[in-house]
Amino acid sequence: MKNFHKNIIILASGNGSNAINIINNFSSANSSVSKISIKALVCNNPDAPIIDKVKNMYADINLYCLPFKKAAERTLFEKGLTEIINKYKIDYIILAGFMKILSNDFVLKNLNKIINIHPSLLPAFKGTQAIKDAFDYGVKVTGVTIHFVIPEIDSGPIILQEPVFIEEYDTIETLEEKIHKLEHKMYIKVLELISCGKLKIADNRVKIF
Ligand code: GRF
Repeated sequence: MKNFHKNIIILASGNGSNAINIINNFSSANSSVSKISIKALVCNNPDAPIIDKVKNMYADINLYCLPFKKAAERTLFEKGLTEIINKYKIDYIILAGFMKILSNDFVLKNLNKIINIHPSLLPAFKGTQAIKDAFDYGVKVTGVTIHFVIPEIDSGPIILQEPVFIEEYDTIETLEEKIHKLEHKMYIKVLELISCGKLKIADNRVKIF
């Protein structure tokens, strides 16, 4: 029988609600039979709340803080990250609220291995303020996209996309809440698909079978 066991690393920069949700679902403490192993969490921002959360709640997770705030720090960050990826034989690099741009070189070396979550229906509302931009624009439907990363920002083969309707009574806060709730559900779904070997990329399209 084929072994679909996958080693993942999570990258986060801030609050880390997506990262925590993934850890809660797949950490070995919660599932002895999980086909997803979270080998490490890497944070680029020494002041990010996710660091204390992981230290306090998940002592068994390998936590790395590789400083990368300024563009000049990227080369060193990617060098450290590559060492961690090799050390743990990482299959997938999961960007969960990772707010920095990886170099084209790093992305191309890890093509079809880096997955990102974005709080809009790409290709609409790219960038770091996607929820606010959609709300301010007045669209009636926005959503969440999970995609493979390519050198172009907020682009790449889409794995999963789901809508969120913006109702007249919604505020930016209620919209953010709806989007984050959906993000958490969708990342678990995608990781489950990966763990079952159900994702394939062909002709730049993701097929789920
Ligand atoms: C999420 O909305 C994610 O889509 C975006 O950044 C946000 C991070 O939230 N890339 P959190 O740090 O996971 O709470």
